[in-house]
Amino acid sequence: MDFDTLFLRRKSVRAYEDRPVEEDLKRRVLEATLRAPSAGALMLYSVLEIEDQALKDRLAITCDNQPFIARAPWVLIFLADYRRLMDYFEHFGVMEWVDRTGRRHSTPRKSDLLLASCDALIAAQTAAMAAESLGLGSCYIGDIMENWEIHRELLSLPRYTFPIAMLCLGYPTAQQRERRLTPRLPESMIMMKNRYRRASAQELETMYRGEGYSAFSPKNDIENAAQALYDRKFGASFSVEMRRSVSSMMKDWS
Ligand SMILES: Cc1cc2nc3c(=O)[nH]c(=O)nc-3n(C[C@H](O)[C@H](O)[C@H](O)COP(=O)(O)O)c2cc1C
Repeated sequence: MDFDTLFLRRKSVRAYEDRPVEEDLKRRVLEATLRAPSAGALMLYSVLEIEDQALKDRLAITCDNQPFIARAPWVLIFLADYRRLMDYFEHFGVMEWVDRTGRRHSTPRKSDLLLASCDALIAAQTAAMAAESLGLGSCYIGDIMENWEIHRELLSLPRYTFPIAMLCLGYPTAQQRERRLTPRLPESMIMMKNRYRRASAQELETMYRGEGYSAFSPKNDIENAAQALYDRKFGASFSVEMRRSVSSMMKDWS
């Protein structure tokens, strides 16, 4: 697949052809995923493949009611994972040795969670682009970070694991292939040189405006696009739930 198709015409795909993803194709994607960069090559992540339709059905509800999750032929959950490293230390009695020899006794903290999340997200994006290069489409589900207590139970997640992203994958329908690209902010607002530059008032006035951003400024109720964006995204109930869920999960990492 050429560069433009792979990177410049990529879009999230939420409707899939009703056919499974071939095993050899999955294999190729997973091979690429395992070659993704990883902090210290420790591979502080795991990937849960959700094959059980009942689980998919449940996740479609617990992840902010998004029915297409249940219809996705291939569903992967990327976990930030320090469990495996802690089990490794435990297996070899490392913490006892640490205490015995007067070393500093360290346990996974929020910084470790962020590092493991970097690993998991880099693996996820590698999977997404590998899948894309082989003709599949994908869509991230950030709402997997909601309902921590439910997801922990549903997926048997031990302490020091956290689902940071979910990917739904499958062959895009013709309608999805033809759908328009979503808008982006101008490069001048994203790329900075040497020092952070806050957006100017003029830039803020045009931000999230223009064609394609109309979802944030519905014509009939709230006129002000910034207020509409607050309601639909930042202040929306899914964001409130994500904040609650993540801070509940973070108690395990302090
Ligand atoms: C971290 C993250 C979380 C996302 N969560 C969702 C989600 O829960 N549901 C969804 O339909 N799309 C989700 N998306 C997809 C975005 O909505 C999409 O990337 C964005 O609208 C831009 O569209 P495009 O990918 O087609 O260019 C997510 C994307 C990212 C990067």
